[in-house]
Amino acid sequence: MRKPIIAGNWKMFKLISDAVATATALKPLVANANHCEVVIAPPFTALKAVADRLEGSNIHVSAQDLAPEIKHGAHTGEVCGDMIKDAGCSHVIIGHSERRAMYGDTDAVVNRKIRAALHFGLTPIVCIGETLDERDAGNAEKVVATQLAQSLAELTASEVIRIVLAYEPVWAIGTGRTATPEQAQQMHAFIRQWIAQQFDATAASDLRILYGGSVKPENISDLMRAADIDGALVGGASLEAESFSRIVNYEW
Ligand code: 13P
Repeated sequence: MRKPIIAGNWKMFKLISDAVATATALKPLVANANHCEVVIAPPFTALKAVADRLEGSNIHVSAQDLAPEIKHGAHTGEVCGDMIKDAGCSHVIIGHSERRAMYGDTDAVVNRKIRAALHFGLTPIVCIGETLDERDAGNAEKVVATQLAQSLAELTASEVIRIVLAYEPVWAIGTGRTATPEQAQQMHAFIRQWIAQQFDATAASDLRILYGGSVKPENISDLMRAADIDGALVGGASLEAESFSRIVNYEW
């Protein structure tokens, strides 16, 4: 059985004090959530303080990116995977559409970052998803298949099982326009089938595929009822402990 994951991506929000306050407020609100894994991804500067505050709790801490390199060196501005682990993280988001659109994270870069994360024993949460133009042109599955092929290039099935995928249609991010459970399910089923073809049946059935894009307390339950949706990657609605805890504690 695939254990669901509810992950909150705080993006470039929150100073350390606010991040720690939100994490502190979240802790008791999700303490009984044994049905899923809970992950929050604060900005780099707050990782250590948040992880320290959450030590011994059921909330995992994730970074939002990492360097593709695995050796320390002259890479100004980059953060190596072992530094992320050292700060108390177990997960790292890779290839978010905002990084792809604004910071040049190509599929080839995403592939290197996945390898770096796996090298350091971090769980990569790898984001894929089409733009509205691509969907309207009928190319959504083709775009996602290309992202998968290039991002997961030359990984083994046992490596792929250690990854979490997040299908985040770009047109649903921060727009309030959630994919319908049917639209999301259709793409998740396509992704799982693609994994089965390219890797193997075990990798496909074990792989967790999260949905992201305007997930709210009001729509999480319908999304989670879809057979191939194994959790959510939540942006805006994860910034407040109360709304994020309602998503974590969805009815199921
Ligand atoms: P929103 O939930 O704000 O649409 O953001 C989704 C997202 O980008 C999560 O990574």
